[in-house]
Amino acid sequence: MSKQEEKISQLIDKRTEARLGGGEKAIEKQHARGKYTARERIAMLLDEGSFEELDMFVTHRCTNFGQDKKHIAGDGVVTGFGTIDGRLVYVFAQDFTVFGGSLSVTMSLKICKYRDMAMKMGAPVIGLNDSGGARIQEGINALAGYSEIFQRNILASGVIPQISAIMGPCAGGAVYSPALTDFTIMTKGLSYMFLTGPSVVKTVTGEDVSQENLGGASVHATKSGVTHFAAENEEEALALVRKLLSYMPQNNMEETPLVTCTDPIDRLEDKLNDIIPDNPKRSYDMYEVISAIVDNGEFLEVSKDYAKNIIIGFARFNGQAVGVVANQPKVLAGVLDSNASRKGARFVRFCDAFNIPLVTLVDVPGFLPGTGQEYNGVILHGAKLLYAYGEATVPKVTVTLRKSYGGSHIVMSCKQLRGDMNYAWPSAEIAVMGAEGAVGVLYAKEAKTHENPEAFKQEKEEEYRDLFANPYQAAKYGYIDDVIEPRNTRFRIIKALNMLATKKLTNPAKKHGNIPL
Ligand code: HXC
Repeated sequence: MSKQEEKISQLIDKRTEARLGGGEKAIEKQHARGKYTARERIAMLLDEGSFEELDMFVTHRCTNFGQDKKHIAGDGVVTGFGTIDGRLVYVFAQDFTVFGGSLSVTMSLKICKYRDMAMKMGAPVIGLNDSGGARIQEGINALAGYSEIFQRNILASGVIPQISAIMGPCAGGAVYSPALTDFTIMTKGLSYMFLTGPSVVKTVTGEDVSQENLGGASVHATKSGVTHFAAENEEEALALVRKLLSYMPQNNMEETPLVTCTDPIDRLEDKLNDIIPDNPKRSYDMYEVISAIVDNGEFLEVSKDYAKNIIIGFARFNGQAVGVVANQPKVLAGVLDSNASRKGARFVRFCDAFNIPLVTLVDVPGFLPGTGQEYNGVILHGAKLLYAYGEATVPKVTVTLRKSYGGSHIVMSCKQLRGDMNYAWPSAEIAVMGAEGAVGVLYAKEAKTHENPEAFKQEKEEEYRDLFANPYQAAKYGYIDDVIEPRNTRFRIIKALNMLATKKLTNPAKKHGNIPL
């Protein structure tokens, strides 16, 4: 063997060893837990054969607690770049087989290096998290490492898409990097996220709670809203990352790629002409409307189990990716509350940051009243959604299907919040408030002294409905651009989006706004 051949053989051996991470036993343990290894995950995530690994031979620099005798190539994280559907992405995957995937300063430097490249090249970053948190032996250095990552998360926000998949433990300060990214996906039964674990909770508050009930995927998908998706398994989680990216541009200076549309753009959906019940108190399913109007009925819903009274997600019209925001009359009558407002606002801001047009479908009776909401700051949360729509400069197409009352009318992308095309169905009711509430205020005194107060109120409510419970008052003032036939909604939205494709609108120069957080 020549000297050169020897060196190459050495390299191959080193690579083989590095690829084993914490070793075969640790890999077996990882598999026995029902989890894939970091490299297996990356292989599933990226286009076949596209992964280029960086810093495979990096090791930690810690000497505390005997760490100077334990060095594993790569130091618990696999980083590099590759492609998804042919588009460049940067990825890191924490390797639980090495020191439990815990974060050392070296791991942080590896993650920051690829993050900095992602910013320079303008490409999305994907983090696959599976870690025991700060590497305890490294003390304060591990905290500094986290901080470096968080700072990069913050600067990348709104510049390049950032997606986190949580595929194992994610505890303590480690949770903040995923929380700072645009979308989080957790795997059911295998992952958890919390600031303080069950034992600390028990010590501090006396509360007995399991890991799963404290921070499992289901908890965060339904109760806290921390995760946007709860995937059944790792394969589904990784497929979701790929799908999500298909609706996004590479960075905030680019547009989303157009997809060839195979669905007729002028497809009429007769069933939409009958979907609104005659009785205004009866509900219908907004999902039926969404799937009827978008390309091939395909809708990638985000946060589907959290604040179900508002629906958010990605779809396409004539191959153009859009963000859909819609009230859901089937849940709490589609009312806006604190959680729905926060959910909607964050999504609107994401779409606006990444040049994704917004299509808003409105059927909202108002904001949820009561001390529960007021004490919870519904004023501020509602203002977030209002702010998000008002600041958004992407094309905004709004269709009012039925109710659109009061403050909630304004908040849901009304004309004065720079809505570009505001359509209404003939069933729309656009007014300050519903008939019962209005008559209660306007005729309170008369009703009290009337010989038949019920009949009197009904008569006045009817009068109010005749005058206001329609789209024509708003259309009369140009607040609605047109009243459209429901079955033609898809075609009208597509025509509006085509027309708006060259929209240019900028907000006043400022350091940044002060959204009511
Ligand atoms: C160093 C760690 C580690 C850590 C795990 N390991 N977490 N090493 N620092 N934080 C090591 C273990 O010692 C073990 O090493 C190997 O990883 C696998 O861990 P196991 O405990 O055997 O695995 P499992 O039983 O599945 O339990 C996983 C776990 C547990 C629940 C994550 O390891 C755990 O509780 N770890 C500590 C979690 C924690 O408190 N982290 C610090 C949070 S504070 P060997 O050699 O035996 O294989 C924090 C502050 C950050 O993160 C603030 C940032 C702003």
